[in-house]
Amino acid sequence: MPRIPVLTIDGPSGSGKGTISRAVADRLGWHYLDSGAIYRAVGLAAAWENVDLSDPEAVAHCAARTEIRFETAESGELHVIVNGKDATRQLRMETAGAAASAIAAHPPVRAALVDLQHRFRRLPGLVADGRDMGTVIFPDAPYKVFLTASAGERAKRRHKQLKEKGVSVNLDSLLHEIAARDERDAGRAVAPLKPADDAVVVDSTGTPITEVIERVLSVLPEKLRQPRQAS
Ligand code: DC
Repeated sequence: MPRIPVLTIDGPSGSGKGTISRAVADRLGWHYLDSGAIYRAVGLAAAWENVDLSDPEAVAHCAARTEIRFETAESGELHVIVNGKDATRQLRMETAGAAASAIAAHPPVRAALVDLQHRFRRLPGLVADGRDMGTVIFPDAPYKVFLTASAGERAKRRHKQLKEKGVSVNLDSLLHEIAARDERDAGRAVAPLKPADDAVVVDSTGTPITEVIERVLSVLPEKLRQPRQAS
């Protein structure tokens, strides 16, 4: 079995990870893992089932029984199906992000989601987007990036994204929520948000997306940058 290459892209919310990771996966013809969507889906499923989000074991059981599927629509948009329901739009709301951040702090919940994430590692390769892809889930990944941007810029990007989707939120409250979430994600005891020792740190503040994509692709050897068909 040849070693299946993985490129991990970790970083805080609003750093452009989602857009960059998808674009890089497309360019390479590799599979794409949106691990944040998995945590969001579990947070949502737990809320649907009235599970106490502060109870680690109860949420871990919920994670184990939640069926999460990713489907690519004809438009190319990635849809997330949670227990048979298309939850794509709901998952993007800040409430889902906050629920994800709360349940992601529980070690049994993280443990329950490891196998699911490992199953995304398939030929010809995987771009794994998250917070702990390079540190915990794929520590042996040969290519690792930690993507970041200033909190102000991340809040502005999130604001624009939500506005385009018809969701109206106040920029100040978004900045406040993002800062609080960063603090929780970086300060938690299990899998805190931090760059892997062998990650290349890329700061996207004030940098056009196309340039950030090239910068991320540059961590791969030339021969892997030739696109191939995903299987
Ligand atoms: O990337 P995102 O905003 O969709 O992530 C939502 C939350 O899920 C985030 O606050 C932290 C958590 N998360 C995590 O703990 N580990 C991951 N690999 C991905 C997301």
